[in-house]
Amino acid sequence: TIQSIRAREILDSRGNPTVEAEVTLACGAHARAASPSGASTGVHEALELRDGTPGRYNGKGVQRPVNLINHGIGDRLTGFDARDQQAVDRALIDLDGTANKQNLGANTTLAVSMAVARAAATAEGRRLWEYLGDPAEPLLPVPMMNILNGGVHANWQGPDFQEYLIAPYGAPTFAEALRWGAEIYHALKAFLKEKGYSTGVGDEGGFAPAVSSNTEPLDLIVEAIERAGYTPGTQIGIALDPASSSFYHDGAYELRTEGLTLTAAEMVDRYRDLAGAYPIVVIEDGLAEDDWDGWRLLTEAIGDRVELVGDDLFVTNVTRIERGIREGVANAVLIKPNQIGTVTETIAAVRLAQQNGWGAMVSHRSGETVDTFIADFTVAMRTGHLKTGAPARGERVEKYNQLLRIEEAAGGAVRYAGRAGFVR
Ligand code: PGA
Ligand code: ZN
Repeated sequence: TIQSIRAREILDSRGNPTVEAEVTLACGAHARAASPSGASTGVHEALELRDGTPGRYNGKGVQRPVNLINHGIGDRLTGFDARDQQAVDRALIDLDGTANKQNLGANTTLAVSMAVARAAATAEGRRLWEYLGDPAEPLLPVPMMNILNGGVHANWQGPDFQEYLIAPYGAPTFAEALRWGAEIYHALKAFLKEKGYSTGVGDEGGFAPAVSSNTEPLDLIVEAIERAGYTPGTQIGIALDPASSSFYHDGAYELRTEGLTLTAAEMVDRYRDLAGAYPIVVIEDGLAEDDWDGWRLLTEAIGDRVELVGDDLFVTNVTRIERGIREGVANAVLIKPNQIGTVTETIAAVRLAQQNGWGAMVSHRSGETVDTFIADFTVAMRTGHLKTGAPARGERVEKYNQLLRIEEAAGGAVRYAGRAGFVR
């Protein structure tokens, strides 16, 4: 039974405030959780509530969410059975009363929702992944490691595409996959240095070199994979998150790095060429969040070969995912709990994708804390892959380290998803 809920304002990995909630149960069990925050946020995401007070954290303070929890939400949820996640989340949804968490903010509700789940797991004497899923069937995800950052995560002359990721799906275990990825990361660093590029990193820990095209990073990464002693394609796949909504203006895609403006059809041609020339397994947000026609073209062109993940397109929202399934747009969904605001709604989005044979890739945000909820969540939901940044920066690495702990704790029951972790 929930006895009290308290919240505080803490900092995220970008030095912006975020909400941390702390739940205490009558049995004495106690847990906390913190909300992450995106930079390339989709326009259809649930609202993130901030104070907007000028002169304080540039308006980004979260005293309002904290006060909502300390004076209202906490009282409302006192007495609830923490194990009844659906009832807790239903109360949060009702208290907010809007479709996109406009009143409370998804950053407010999610911190509470995750802390309740974690407290319930603690009370039951179970690990979070065991509590959220079937403890007999943990599935360790392929770590989708974002080793080269561009777009709004790199904020200088990087590529237009936001993320270049490696997927060590050929490894026998999660621990080995993580080692392979880290070795490739270091090989890439040495190679960039050799070429005279900066090895400064972006928001998600990947390098942010001032490359001259959006294709050049793929050549750099292929070389780094080989230098580290691995085989592109059979052992290591490559994924892209262009986050194309961020360079979509007036119905066209503006590739600043290359001085080109492309139509959706031209973007699709480019992706088809890239998928033919490189071992690309995933393209996320290849087209913009409301460019359903462009998305349909892309799905028709390469949806049989490449996992096409909708992030800004679907925003972890079942209504939008249902439309994608109905219209044959994309074949996988990015799952970001703070895009929707409660654990229950996040689970619903994962289940909807899985029941329709779609992929579900759980994801961090570019602004993170050391909270490892998504690591346990992805194991419990058996989503097969998780993207949570480079093997660098504490807030990214902590998720991967949590997966090492889970793999060890799960012992014989554990399985590494490998190539089967992808729908294509
Ligand atoms: P964001 O980026 O957290 O800044 O939105 C992550 C992504 O686009 O996948
Ligand atoms: Zn994305």
